[in-house]
Amino acid sequence: MKIQKIKVMNFRNYDNLELSFNPCKNIIIGRNGSGKTNIVEAIYVLALTKSFRGTREDVIIKHDKELTRIEGEVKEKRKESFKVILDKNKKTVKKNNTVIKRISDYISNINVILFTSEDLKLIKDTPNTRRKLINVDLSQFSNEYLKYLTLYNKILKQRNMYLKTLYLNGNASKDYLDIITNQLVEYGLKVHKYRKEFINDISLYISDIYKNITGIDGLKLTYKSDYDKSKEDILKSYKRIVNSDMRNGQTSLGIHRDDYDFTLRNVYLKDFGSEGEKKNAIIAFKLSELELFKNKKGVIPILILDDLYSELDKVKINNILEFINDDIQTFITTTEISKLSKRIKEGSKIFKVKNGIVEEVTYEK
Ligand SMILES: Nc1ncnc2c1ncn2[C@@H]1O[C@H](COP(=O)(O)OP(=O)(O)OP(=O)(O)O)[C@@H](O)[C@H]1O
Ligand SMILES: [Mg+2]
Repeated sequence: MKIQKIKVMNFRNYDNLELSFNPCKNIIIGRNGSGKTNIVEAIYVLALTKSFRGTREDVIIKHDKELTRIEGEVKEKRKESFKVILDKNKKTVKKNNTVIKRISDYISNINVILFTSEDLKLIKDTPNTRRKLINVDLSQFSNEYLKYLTLYNKILKQRNMYLKTLYLNGNASKDYLDIITNQLVEYGLKVHKYRKEFINDISLYISDIYKNITGIDGLKLTYKSDYDKSKEDILKSYKRIVNSDMRNGQTSLGIHRDDYDFTLRNVYLKDFGSEGEKKNAIIAFKLSELELFKNKKGVIPILILDDLYSELDKVKINNILEFINDDIQTFITTTEISKLSKRIKEGSKIFKVKNGIVEEVTYEK
């Protein structure tokens, strides 16, 4: 999958910007705050309809403007056009100039794998952050996943509400709680199946890729879930904790508590890993996803490496970039072009960003 062109209006620090990209590597250089991440963010928004930065969706609209528009041409089997238009209260998405009503139908069209330093949260932060990041990735693999996750969350809310009702009114029907619990487990098991399969698939690649980058063996990713057992046993567990759940008005078991762990030679990276080890582990995870896309969907996603450089030495960076074949369209943002090998620079299109002005430059040997 290749993004050939992008055109943005009122996006972050850009009024109007139009760029044509290289089908292989694209390097975006410039000082801090010049607008490098904003360019790759525009590609990400075109694919997933929202940013990976900021809490509110409208932060991407240029200050003092009402509306932003991102358009792009992407070629997979054939060339198709995509458009995301966002104003303060509405988002419209179009594929080949036709409005797509459901966002979930739109976001599996352009597949993007992104690495940003924010992704270190995948190791460092709370389970909640890890689940969110994995949800974004899994939703690109399957529309069904998001559907079941949404259904699960809806039932979970109902269950929590009903637990409170039961606590306040001892006469309320417990049978109804059983019905909701059964439904919760059914949807939860669907989500669990997708997550488990995903982690198992990632595990096929992650250790080898990590070894390629660092020369070190033994990186593993494991999935921990309350649903790692049969439906019968899960239902029994719910029965066991029903009284405390009623007191708390909360469901204390379920896939909303799932977690993932990175270990390096059986040691938890979140507790003991160095910054560089964590970063390489996340990159190995992202490159494993790329392999998964290739093998499961028959699609090569667009790879974005935002600010790959901080904390990594020259050798590791070039190991990573050498690993990425030329059939993968890659975007690399950096302030330090000197860390890139000559070979990588020669095969790339280089964009220089200065105060929101983007200029294509040729590599000088
Ligand atoms: N909605 C917005 N409207 C106008 N300008 C914005 C908006 N959001 C962010 N900016 C500006 O965009 C500029 C460039 O941001 P960007 O994150 O792309 O920089 P960068 O080149 O990636 O820098 P770094 O090397 O530090 O990562 C910042 O100065 C920021 O203030
Ligand atoms: Mg940046």
